[in-house]
This record gives sequence, C-alpha cells and structure tokens, in this order.
Amino acid sequence: MRLAVIGCGGMGTIHASLAARCGFEVVACGDSRLDKAKALAEQHNAEAADDCLALVKRPDVEVVAVATPTPTHGAYVRAAAEAGKHVFCEKPFTRTPEEGEETLAAVKRSGVKLLVGHVVRYFQEFEAIRERVQNGSIGKVGFVKTYRGGIYPRGEGAWFHDYAQSGGVVFDSSIHDLDWIRYVFGNPTRVYCQALQRSDPLDYGMVTMWFDQGLITHTIGTWAHPGGFRVKVEVCGDQGMVTLDSKEAPISAMMRETAGGGPSMIVPGSPVPVSPYQLEWEDFAAWMRDGRTPRVQPEDAVWAVRIAHGALESARTGAPVAL
Ligand SMILES: NC(=O)c1ccc[n+]([C@@H]2O[C@H](COP(=O)([O-])OP(=O)(O)OC[C@H]3O[C@@H](n4cnc5c(N)ncnc54)[C@H](O)[C@@H]3O)[C@@H](O)[C@H]2O)c1
Repeated sequence: MRLAVIGCGGMGTIHASLAARCGFEVVACGDSRLDKAKALAEQHNAEAADDCLALVKRPDVEVVAVATPTPTHGAYVRAAAEAGKHVFCEKPFTRTPEEGEETLAAVKRSGVKLLVGHVVRYFQEFEAIRERVQNGSIGKVGFVKTYRGGIYPRGEGAWFHDYAQSGGVVFDSSIHDLDWIRYVFGNPTRVYCQALQRSDPLDYGMVTMWFDQGLITHTIGTWAHPGGFRVKVEVCGDQGMVTLDSKEAPISAMMRETAGGGPSMIVPGSPVPVSPYQLEWEDFAAWMRDGRTPRVQPEDAVWAVRIAHGALESARTGAPVAL
C-alpha cells in the first residue's frame, strides 16, 4: 500500500524504513521543514512536501504515518481519516483526552484503520511477562513497579522541553508503561502523580494507579539519565514474582517456595530477534491484509492519554484523579 510519512524527524525516519520493510511503498514524505522532507524522500525515492494537510489527502496515498510533535497528531489523523486513509500514529495519540475522543470519533465515522504506536506492547520481554501473568504462574498479582529512564530527548526545535507540547517525561515516556499496565490488568480507577517537571535535565515523575481488583502499580519515568537507557519491571503475585532489568538478564521469574519447602526457580529469557517497532508495522499490515485484530485498538490510545493526562493533573493539584 502507498504510504505518506508526515514528520521526518527521529521517529518518522525509523517508521519509513520499517514500513518499507513490511511491504508499504513510501510515496511521499512531508514535514513543515522542506529540507527534512527532502532528505527522507531521497532515501525512499519519494516526493517531498511541506504542505502536510494537502499531502494526507492526495488520491494516490492510501496510508498515512504521523510522526510529528504530539499536539499536531490530531489534526493530521482527522484529515487523513476524513480523506479515507488508514493511519499509523505515534504515541501519545493526542495531547488531551478531549482531542483524543474527537479524533477517535472521526476515525470511527470514516471506518478507516488506526494503529497508535504503543510499542511496549510489542517488546517481547514485556509480552513474556504478560503471558506469565495471564497463565497464572505467579498467582494473583498485588503490585507492579515499572521504571523507564533515558536522556532528555531534544526533538526538532527542542519541542520536548516545552511541557505544553510534550507533557514532559510523565506524559511522553511513562505513557508507555501506563498503557502496558492497562493492557495487562485492565482499566485503573484512580491515578496519582508526583513530578519534578523541571526542564533539562531533571524531569522525573512517579505515577501510582489503583485498580478495583486490589492492585496497585508504581511507574517511575525520568529523562535525567546522563546517558543510555534503562527499563525495569517487577510484577509480584501471591505465587511468585517476574522481574526485568534491561541492563541485566532480559527477564527472570522466581517462584515462591511452597509451604513444604522446595526449590525456587529462575527462568532466563531470550534476546529480542525482531525490532518491536517493526512488529508494530507487521501487525498493522496483517490487520489490513487479513483483518487480524491488532495489539493496540484505537480506544486504547485514548485511554492511555486519559491516564497520562490525569497523572499530570494530579501532579498539578496534589490530589488523586478518578478515571
Ligand atoms: N514510540 C517511541 O518509542 C517514540 C520515541 C520518540 C518519540 N516518539 C513520539 O513520536 C513523535 C515524534 O517524535 P520525534 O522524536 O520523531 O520528534 P522530532 O522532533 O525528531 O521529529 C518531528 C518532525 O516533525 C516536524 N514537524 C514539526 N511540526 C510539524 C507540523 N506541524 N507538521 C509537519 N511536520 C512537523 C519537525 O520538523 C520534525 O522533523 C512524538 O509524538 C513523540 O512523542 C515515540
């Protein structure tokens, strides 16, 4: 299918290559900076444009990938949907839940397919943890802790530094883990957050969620790392605990000893063979080709925005937010 990529920065460049690898033909690259559109278009033998709203409506374009700064996603997704194009959109879907609802309604009205890049659902280590929770091997889960730390992202014109645009680390980065937790455990009922919300380098947030089934989750996000990237997960149930530390073993599981004693067990995971960003595109392609339900539904993307936005609201007021 013929694809237009909107936003030719860090993620747009990655998505253009991965989409091409999954059988999409990149026919056009759009960016408000024509030089960036041209640079990516050259790599794919595509056309370049700086009028991106016109580009998404072009009759020869069948699919649109949106990888621009977050507050601009909604307008492109709605324009693409109204023109009958399927859409891949980077996360966060929109900057506010209200715009998320409005954009989702436009997608539903038009009947096009929308996949939002909640890529953590495609990380095989996270999938292995989800399987252990779902097959009951660690029993009833009581708490979950996640940690995601990296360097302060810059982006074109340093837009990540502008909270009004990016929402900082809580909205832009912790949203990955908040979405994954909801994917595994269902809808949370309340969210609470404390955050530093200082600009480069000290942006740091702690988000707590409560669930009706008696589960509590803690999500820490930071862009204060001097270098590198680190992810940690701990899921604790009444039968055992699964942990992941990206700097150590990919995944390990320790089973609680039974009343009569017996050995505990450690299960090492396997290294990741395929980029999770590619798995997103494979999932999107399979949805279009075979109608197979993808891992991320459009409603999930609005839910993720609702939770992350609630966390920002909680950080502002100091009170928990009901979801
Ligand atoms: N899934 C992930 O792991 C992941 C990682 C990084 C970023 N993201 C998300 O991807 C999106 C893009 O982030 P990025 O890191 O690629 O940013 P970036 O700044 O590197 O790229 C954005 C591009 O969009 C262009 N642009 C800006 N405003 C525009 C507009 N109104 N119309 C058209 N083009 C415009 C810029 O010139 C730039 O080339 C963001 O929503 C971000 O949160 C996701």
